[in-house]
Order: sequence, then C-alpha cells, then structure tokens
Amino acid sequence: MKKLRIGMIGAGGIAQARHLPAFQKLNDLVEIHAICDVNLDRAKEVASTYQIPVVSNDYLDIFSEVDAVCICTPNKFHAEIAIAALESGLHVFCEKPMALTAKECEAMINASKKQEKVLAIAYHYRFKREAQAAKKSMSEVGTPLVVRVRALRQRKVPSWGVFTNKELQGGGSLIDWGCHFLDLALWLIGNPTETDVTGSIYNKLSKMPNQVNEWGAFNHETFEVDDHVSAFIKFENGTSMLFETSWAANIKKDEEHLSISGVEGGLNVFPFELYTTKDGMLLNSVPPWLPGEEQPDIPQARNFIEACLGRSELVLKPEEALQVSRIIDKIYENGGSLS
Ligand SMILES: NC(=O)c1ccc[n+]([C@@H]2O[C@H](COP(=O)([O-])OP(=O)(O)OC[C@H]3O[C@@H](n4cnc5c(N)ncnc54)[C@H](O)[C@@H]3O)[C@@H](O)[C@H]2O)c1
Repeated sequence: MKKLRIGMIGAGGIAQARHLPAFQKLNDLVEIHAICDVNLDRAKEVASTYQIPVVSNDYLDIFSEVDAVCICTPNKFHAEIAIAALESGLHVFCEKPMALTAKECEAMINASKKQEKVLAIAYHYRFKREAQAAKKSMSEVGTPLVVRVRALRQRKVPSWGVFTNKELQGGGSLIDWGCHFLDLALWLIGNPTETDVTGSIYNKLSKMPNQVNEWGAFNHETFEVDDHVSAFIKFENGTSMLFETSWAANIKKDEEHLSISGVEGGLNVFPFELYTTKDGMLLNSVPPWLPGEEQPDIPQARNFIEACLGRSELVLKPEEALQVSRIIDKIYENGGSLS
C-alpha cells in the first residue's frame, strides 16, 4: 500500500514534541517526507534527527513533494498556509486554534470543500481516553443542562515563542488553552448552536512587574493578550455553559475541570466519573482503564492519515473547530478591553 507523504510546516515545540514522534510511530502508514521552517537551521536540525529528505524555509517549495501538510506555525499563518496547501491539492492537518478568526476558518473550509481534501484540526483533548469515555456515555446523561469548564493555571504563562504576541497569536489563555476545553465541551454536548455569548477578559496579573511564573520569565511590558477569561454561553437547546480559563490567576492550584449535568445523569471528564440513578439509588461509577493507547497523539495522527487514505471519517469536523473560533471571537468582541 502507498504511504501518505507528509510535509511539516513549522519545526518548533509542538512539531517536535507531538507530531513528528506520532508520525514516526505510524511509519507503516505515513512517511515524513519534507520539512519547512522560516528558521532554516531549525528545519535542517530536525530533518537530520528524523532523516527527512526535503528541507526548505519556504512552504511553497515543499507542496509538490507531498500529499499532505501538518501546520505547526504561529496562529497567524494557519489560514494562509492551509488555503495555499488545499488549493495545491494537499490534505491539511492544522494545529489549534484553527485560525485567528471564524472568518478565516470559513475560508479554510471553503477551500477544503472545493478541492475535496481533508482538513483536520489538532484539538487533541478529544482523543484522550477520558474524553472518549465521556462521549460514549452522553446517552446516559440525556439532554445536557449545565456544562462547567475550568481550565485554570495558577501561574503558567508560556514565556517562549510568540504566545504573548497579539498579532501573531490572536489572543492568550482563551485562544491558546481554553480553546481545547471549549472544543471538547461542545463536542460532548453535540455542538448545538450558541445563541448568547458574554464574557470578560483580563490581563491585570501579567501586566504587573516582577511576576512569579512557573514557565519562565516574560516581559510584562510587551504582554499583549488575555491571561484570564470568564464566559457564559447559552445554546439553542437550552443548555448553558459556565466557562473559565487562565494562564495566571490567584487561585489555590491548577485545575482541568469539565463536567456536565443532564436530565438523565451527569459526568465529570478528568477524571472520568458517571453519575446516574438506578432503582431508587444514586449511583456514581468510575472505570478501571484497560491497557491500551493512553496518549491522544497516536490516535489523533492515525485518524488524520486514515481520513486522507479514505479509510475513516474525521473525528473532528472542521465545522466544529469553526464553532470554537466563532465563540472565541464573540468572547473577545464583548469581553471588554485589556489593560
Ligand atoms: N495542541 C496543543 O496542545 C498545542 C501545544 C503547543 C502549541 N500548539 C500550537 O502549535 C502552533 C505552534 O506552536 P509551537 O509551540 O510549536 O511554537 P514554536 O514557536 O515552538 O514553533 C513555531 C515554529 O514555526 C516557525 N514559523 C513561523 N512562521 C512560519 C512560516 N510562515 N512558515 C514556516 N515556519 C514558520 C517558527 O520559526 C518556529 O520554529 C501554534 O498554533 C500553537 O497554538 C498546540
């Protein structure tokens, strides 16, 4: 069988930590054939580690060499590169967030539909075993009533790369980290259309000098994005979502909380627990996990490759990633101004 030839665009943190090792482990299905980074030295170094034959500092150079690309650049370039790749007849696997704005996401979807090519977005939380268990249990939850998301970090502002640059990333804690939980929560409740989105955005803590930060020192004077966001979202089916995310907040400790209370039952995702009633009793269940793939990286990469090879449906539809970006746009639009 012919392998999918993939080209990496952006050879930084996430390409090296997640996608390259995942594709390497799936080498019966995929060949990492090309790599591009505007920092050519970095591209060459990574190419030598993974024995990647084609190396460039311009993504257009690698298009004719591959069947698909994996986009791992700062957020600002996601839409431009994805559309160029799709229009060249390539499948696209793009890091999250899908793009800077919902409008850019729509243009990406239009290009993928026109070219009939796969467009996948790397919201990898969906592939965690707890998330998969929660999805399978939604029939026991019934109609969702209240969704609670708390993706909170006490003091973990990413001090490397361009994460605090508004122009290149589009925002901070919400578009960078909260987006994962927003995607997961929306998917679990079946992506109902949002009818009302209100929020508040803050960056007071990260604008103060002499910050304590677990992820290294950063310049508070050039910090341009949100470090803490709260929102309330209502949906057409009556479900509501209480949402909060932070890189920096005065809280006791970090938290990754997603729970759903429905008409029939409820669940918590991290750790996975199911809350039901049975024969007049309250019944709370926890699963003993079976051995298997515990990390989301491989199933996520396999799903993209198999979709490109025409063997599977994408788990994560680009229209669902568009909804995440649309809600993020609305929170940023009505969340107030930053200091
Ligand atoms: N899924 C996750 O949990 C997760 C985690 C971290 C980062 N990300 C996403 O991955 C993307 C990259 O983040 P990172 O942490 O790897 O950043 P990074 O700064 O470590 O790497 C980005 C790389 O892209 C290169 N680059 C910039 N513009 C380019 C262009 N036009 N063409 C080619 N290369 C270009 C840079 O030189 C750099 O090497 C971002 O969109 C980020 O949101 C996702």
